[in-house]
Amino acid sequence: MNDFAELRWDGRTVSLPLIEGSAHEKAIDISRLRDQTGLITLDSGYSNTGSCESAITFIDGEKGILRYRGIPIEELAEQSSFVETAYLIIYGKLPTRGEFQHFGDLLTAHELIHEDMKFHFEGFPPNAHPMAMLSSMINSAGCYYPELLAPQESQDFVNETAFILSQVRTIAAFAYRKSRGLPIIYPKPEYSYSANFLHMMFSRPNADIALKPEVVRALDLILLLHADHEQNCSTSTVRMVASSKANLFASVASGVCALWGPLHGGANQAVIEMLEQIHRDGDDGSRFVAAAKDKKSGRRLMGFGHRVYKNYDPRAKIIKRQCDELLAVLNISDPLLDIALRLEQAALNDPYFIERKLYPNVDFYSGIIMRAIGLPLEMFTVIFAIGRMPGWIANYLEVSQKEGGRICRPRQIYVGEPLAPYIPLEQRG
Ligand code: ACO
Repeated sequence: MNDFAELRWDGRTVSLPLIEGSAHEKAIDISRLRDQTGLITLDSGYSNTGSCESAITFIDGEKGILRYRGIPIEELAEQSSFVETAYLIIYGKLPTRGEFQHFGDLLTAHELIHEDMKFHFEGFPPNAHPMAMLSSMINSAGCYYPELLAPQESQDFVNETAFILSQVRTIAAFAYRKSRGLPIIYPKPEYSYSANFLHMMFSRPNADIALKPEVVRALDLILLLHADHEQNCSTSTVRMVASSKANLFASVASGVCALWGPLHGGANQAVIEMLEQIHRDGDDGSRFVAAAKDKKSGRRLMGFGHRVYKNYDPRAKIIKRQCDELLAVLNISDPLLDIALRLEQAALNDPYFIERKLYPNVDFYSGIIMRAIGLPLEMFTVIFAIGRMPGWIANYLEVSQKEGGRICRPRQIYVGEPLAPYIPLEQRG
């Protein structure tokens, strides 16, 4: 095979180097194209643009493959925990027993937020969305710990990582308690990562919630399945911000903002809202499916489709099984799940969805699980953000530790007025 591609235009030819990843995907390196030709490439939505080389996560969307640091998601879902997987994603290897213990101890050591930060929560209106609080509070946390603001210069990045991972969970639970006018519940050192989050969400000052292991496991699995997903909208945002040498707190806070949108992390909330609406309308799902196929309706089947997966999302397969098991253990019969199953069947057999390769994505089932656990709708995307934190941190590290890394600065094709005169205000009518 040639190790270059040729571009011909206007009677000229340039050679562009081909590069190959460790899983044999190939790309044309166009980084010198403009210098050589004066041309740039246009790829709105970046479907064909590799924005970086990364060693964190591998996805083959056609085959439905997802691996963190080379390990298949199915094996991690079966045998690992969120905290261990977070370590793997950030540090590139599974921890030894000693490293795992140390990392867990650091998570415990950092689980309390600075007491003064509690006053920030008072400044938000009662109905503030927890995602707004989460992004602001993560950014604010950096102000209290200036020594953590330049982790790439630190010898002990494990400390900074554990700090953010642990704090985000406390901030998220406090944001929820604040939004409901409930007293804050402090974390307990003896609880696991996911158990502690549920405790801070649902215990009362005078009564701890009885935590079912199946519920703790289901939440842990949701976090693990969301831990990274290569260059999606929020992770690319984190890398973009990190490329300006912004600090870790600012970079991951920007990831939270990008995740919030309903076409990205907000989809899990949108799935439940869609199912509730279908239920309220007395629709068996068929009217909604018809509307989702009609571009003029402005509706989409939320939880279906993915930019990268043109096959079943492997996370959706795992989470569907977890969903069935959890509902059986909790003895929950949920009419929304019945609608979800009907939508899934309708879409999987409908030529519109088949031709466009629109399969259920991870959000389709994670929403049902979170609802069964009793997590409020506005917290769904927050849970996603807690889960995605290891991926954001690992991508931040890749950018900030790369020698000679350049600031991300795409170009554009200008389509506005080529040249326009300035008309003084009094002459504009
Ligand atoms: N329902 C109905 N039609 C859809 C859907 C859907 N959920 N998703 C895509 N389509 C159609 C589009 O209308 C388009 O049709 P056309 O070719 O006739 O114009 C075609 O499928 C391709 O769609 P695009 O919008 O080009 O796909 P893109 O890759 O840009 O978008 C996305 C991917 C945003 C996930 C899209 O499928 C979507 O909006 N899904 C619903 C929201 C959702 O579930 N988001 C979660 C994503 S996963 C995550 O963030 C964890």
